[in-house]
Order: sequence, then C-alpha cells, then structure tokens
Amino acid sequence: MLSAKHAELHLITTDLLVVLLTQDSLDDTQGPLARLSERSGVDLSAITEPEHFKAKEGQTFLLRGLANLQSSRVLLVGLGEEKKITTSVLKDAGARAMREAKKVRALNVAVQPHDIEGIEAMAVGLLVGAYDYTTYLTPDEDTYGGIAQIDVLGDDDRLPTMLERAEILGAAINTTRDLVNAPPQDLYPETMADRAVEIANARGLDHKIFDEQAIEQKGFNLLMAVGKGSAHQPRMIHLTYKPEGEVRHKIAFVGKGVTFDTGGNNIKTGGFMYNMHSDMAGGGAVLGAADAIGALKPEGVEVHFIVPAAENSASSNAMRPNDIYRGYGNQTVEIGNTDAEGRLCLADALAYAQEQGVDTIIDLATLTGACVVALGDYTCGLFTDSDELLGDLDASIESTGEDFWRLPLHKKLDKQLDSSVADMKNIGKRYGGAITAALFLKRWVKIDRWAHMDIAAPAFFESSSDTHAAGGTGFGVATLVTLAERLGEQK
Ligand code: BES
Ligand code: ZN
Ligand code: ZN
Repeated sequence: MLSAKHAELHLITTDLLVVLLTQDSLDDTQGPLARLSERSGVDLSAITEPEHFKAKEGQTFLLRGLANLQSSRVLLVGLGEEKKITTSVLKDAGARAMREAKKVRALNVAVQPHDIEGIEAMAVGLLVGAYDYTTYLTPDEDTYGGIAQIDVLGDDDRLPTMLERAEILGAAINTTRDLVNAPPQDLYPETMADRAVEIANARGLDHKIFDEQAIEQKGFNLLMAVGKGSAHQPRMIHLTYKPEGEVRHKIAFVGKGVTFDTGGNNIKTGGFMYNMHSDMAGGGAVLGAADAIGALKPEGVEVHFIVPAAENSASSNAMRPNDIYRGYGNQTVEIGNTDAEGRLCLADALAYAQEQGVDTIIDLATLTGACVVALGDYTCGLFTDSDELLGDLDASIESTGEDFWRLPLHKKLDKQLDSSVADMKNIGKRYGGAITAALFLKRWVKIDRWAHMDIAAPAFFESSSDTHAAGGTGFGVATLVTLAERLGEQK
C-alpha cells in the first residue's frame, strides 16, 4: 500500500495531498506552506490564521478547491514544535492524517513528510490510521472501501527501504488487530492455531501445534485446566524463526492467548466480561511479530513464538477454586480464583520456552485489571529484574513510540502466593495485583533475561479516537520486532 514517489507538490494527482508541518515551519518562507501558497497563487496563511491553525500537535486543516494544484484537496497536519517531535508524535500524525483522509473518502493519498528521520514511524502510523475492522459489516451502495494507495513523497535513496520495513511492520500490527477484533465464536484456540500455521507457511517459519491430546500427553496441565471447560479445546502454538548464518541470541516471545475470558467458574459480571475476546492480544502480538520477523528475516537471532491458547469458560468440566494442578515446570498450583487464568497458561508456556535453550524471554499478556488502574489507558506495565534487558527494551521502545513503565517485582509481596496445600496459589491480595501476577510468573522462570509486559490497557481501545479505530491496537508488535533485530546485531 505504501510507495515512494518523487514529485513536486503542485503536480501530484491524488485524492488528498497530506502535508506534515511543524509550528516552526509556518514562518519559514521556504517551508511547505509558503511553497504551496506560491504554487496555488493563494496566500494560505490568510485562510489558516483566522481559524487559528498553528500546526500544533494534533491540529489538522483541510483546504479544498485550490486552483493551480493537481490535487483537489490538501490536508495540513500539525506536528507541534520541532524540538518536541518524538517517534510517537510522528506515528500519531501519520495515523491522524489517514483518519481524516477517510472522512473525505479518499482512495489514494500522497504524503509530504516532515523529514527523512522518523519516516518509518510516520509511515507505520499511516497504515495504523488507515485500518478499520470491516469484516462483519454488510456493504451497501454507500460503502467506502477505504484507502488503497499511499504515496510518500521524497527523493532520498533510503526512502524505499524505509517504507518497505514500515509496510511490513504496519501490516503485522494490523494482522494482530484483525486477530484481536475477531469475534470469539470465530476466533478460538483451534482457529487461532490455524492462523498461526498460515503465517508460518507464508513466511517460511517452523511450526508445531499441540492439540488437546498432545497438551495432556506433554503435561501442560495448567493450560489444560484453563481450557478444558470449553467446547473449544486449548492449543499450544509454537512457531520458530531460524536465521541463516551465525546465531548470536536465541529469544522467546510468549503471549497470553485466552480467546475469551468469562472468568470461568468465578464468572465475571456483565460489564467486565464484555470485550474479553481481546484477552488473546498478547498472543496476537506474538503472532504479528512472527509475521514481521518472518518477512524481515533479521540476522543473528533465533526467535521462538509461543502462544498458549485457551478459552476460559464456566462449566461442570471447568477448573474450580480449590483444584490443584501440577504445571509443566513441575510445581503445583492451588486455584484460588479461576479468573486469574492468564498466569496459569503462561506458567506452562514459560517453562516450555526455557526448554528451547533461549537466553531472553519476553512475555506479553492482558494480565490484570490492576495494571489498568495503575497506569491508565496508554501505558504497559513492564516487569524485569534484568537491567541489561531493560536497556535493550528501552532502546527498542524509544524507536517505536510504544509506552512502557517499569513496575517492581517486589520480593515482600511474593509470600502472598504461598498456599498450605500446594507449592503456590494463583492469586494474592487485592493491592498490587499486577505485581503479584508478575511474581507468580517469575516463579516459573529460571533465566535472568526475562521481562513481563502487562498490556491489559494499551492492547485494546473501547472507543475510537483521532488516531485509532476502536478495538485492538497491535500494541507490542513493533517493540518485539525491533528488539529481535537489535539483539541480532549484538555481539
Ligand atoms: N483478562 C483479565 C485481565 C483484564 C482486565 C484484561 C481488564 C483487560 C482488561 C484477567 O484474566 C483477570 O481476570 N484478572 C483478574 C485477576 C484477579 C482474579 C486476581 C483481575 O484483574 O481482576
Ligand atoms: Zn481472567
Ligand atoms: Zn484473562
């Protein structure tokens, strides 16, 4: 959908010409607005100023019917002050532009970027903004099919390669969003595994799917406990990317794949159950990362993509409070609450990941409501005891604009997980719920370089905004892909 194009602003034929502007550039006589004014023969600042368009971050301004320009409409998109521009500002600006482009039903769009630095983030934003989940909408004669083509303007040699990576990343993020947005009667463990195999086949990755018999045989008893109450039985999904040549790092990405979380026998009440089809967003992000990594083929890094997939249902067959199960990591768990199911699936998956001989594990999970309370809508809770891995993640996060905040794996809270009848139980007390969930996971991890990301908040937006359609966000995909590339380059 993205291509590089070299052309003069006034000569581009397109449904919508988008121009990204900094506040500083408005006074620049060589700036894009001045250039457009000159070409169109209209003093554009005389149009924008009365309406207080100052190219502040988040501001947009639509110009129509300018003579002397090939494009019938021009959208100005503000970036704010030059010195305050970050990756996330650029990504949001790209997304916002496409959300506006859809309002005027543009089919093709040309975008004049701010500069070559940060073009990838902006271009990923374009694809994120262009996305809508329309699979189940019935089309009629007024249906608009969405943006089909985006040309990014520029003559820099690096542009086509940068757009290629952005296209792969943006498409992978949108693949994750499709998985997250799919209704739970269509996306359940078996069909999620089917999608994983499709991705593996398309990208040349190895794949191994454990069905319910194989899960039982292998001893993934905690995953089985979570999934057995549903007519849709669980799956353990494992894809592998192996690079050509030397392997410098072996890493595992593990994602919670609860395709619907009713709470199980500790059933959720109405409002809290709605949208729990998004409880597989961690697994969705891991599969999105597999899609992108399989396409980008980074050197030096072997990556295992592991998704324990289960539907947490209430039934006479489902696990109950007071049940005790032995996990794959050979410790027993007393079920305190069947709604704390994500950590159970992940415990088996983390134990399995370590068997692959990896030096680094990142898990992503919509794990706790407590994390949403703590950090709000946009921020992921990041837990790790490894400052070294934190450094690697920080660098990746910096370049993707995804928002993280470190929370403590506080040792003193760990005893809340002690049980008198099993090696541990799956819930602590109310306060610090995101931390006790993370401490539960830590009990199954033996390697140092492990990080847990609680993405309960940023993985899913209940309503749309000026940068996002409602639903899955694809949070985590960009960070995982960037981290894999980064580790592959390390000695
Ligand atoms: N899937 C939920 C967590 C969640 C809540 C994700 C809100 C997204 C939005 C998880 O399985 C859960 O139910 N956690 C419980 C844990 C509790 C029983 C210890 C919670 O957070 O209330
Ligand atoms: Zn739950
Ligand atoms: Zn859950």
